[in-house]
Amino acid sequence: MSITSEFSQDQLVLVGVGPGDPELLTVAAVRALEAADVVVHPIAYEGAEGMALAIASRWIRPDQRCLPLLFPMVTESQPRIAAWRQAADVLAAEVRSGNRVVLLCEGDVSLFATGSYVQLALRRHHPDVPFVLIPGITSVSAAAAAAAKDSFDFPLAFQQEGLLIRPCPETHAELIALLQSARKTSTVLGLIKLGQRWSWVRAALEQEQLLDRALFAQRVGWPDQWVASAQAVPDDVRPYFSMLLIRQQWPEVLP
Ligand SMILES: C[S@@+](CC[C@H](N)C(=O)[O-])C[C@H]1O[C@@H](n2cnc3c(N)ncnc32)[C@H](O)[C@@H]1O
Repeated sequence: MSITSEFSQDQLVLVGVGPGDPELLTVAAVRALEAADVVVHPIAYEGAEGMALAIASRWIRPDQRCLPLLFPMVTESQPRIAAWRQAADVLAAEVRSGNRVVLLCEGDVSLFATGSYVQLALRRHHPDVPFVLIPGITSVSAAAAAAAKDSFDFPLAFQQEGLLIRPCPETHAELIALLQSARKTSTVLGLIKLGQRWSWVRAALEQEQLLDRALFAQRVGWPDQWVASAQAVPDDVRPYFSMLLIRQQWPEVLP
């Protein structure tokens, strides 16, 4: 039996669906979706469309039941813990009633992902319910690939370099310190959750003379994707689905 067909045997699968382009679901993800009775997907507020569902919709049939689960985007811990617990309870109940279930996650299922919290809640509260994970293409990898289409080469990391993917710092001073430390350690930065911070981040990059060494990527894989040198992006507020890749130096030996 091949690895991909094994996924379609599992009753509960946490699936990374990639950053936007439906062609960037893995074969394993599509197989798991095809085999599912119930497609569970996160939403940020009641009535929201759901990013992961939109990405996977090409691969979902009308006879499959889609079940939205609310994960409020708040900083307080209690509503978040309650949402993870409820998600784990709903998934376990679906599995116990004999359904094959997938939980969709935008991008990769383990990288800054709601899926990771659900994974831990399942393990803690429903240890008898087995599940598997299918990794997805990360938004960071997709951004680097999208840049190359416009002849903007932005390899994420060469042999001796580091790669740090993390949320954009909250203050100018923190960002400057991060940039300086990344420069000293030959570390490429992937700063996610850029959105409204871009309005002041641009000035920090300018101060460090990094505007032409940073790649701005917004809604990668969506029809309105925008991938450009940070130099070309005015200092206004950008959407939540935006990020920066910052490469401050290149290896000495290159083709
Ligand atoms: C909660 S994290 C999810 C990361 C996701 N699990 C992944 O593997 O890429 C959300 C952040 O990832 C970045 N992101 C995710 N998808 C994106 C996309 N299609 N285009 C640009 N940025 C994206 C944005 O910075 C956004 O604020």
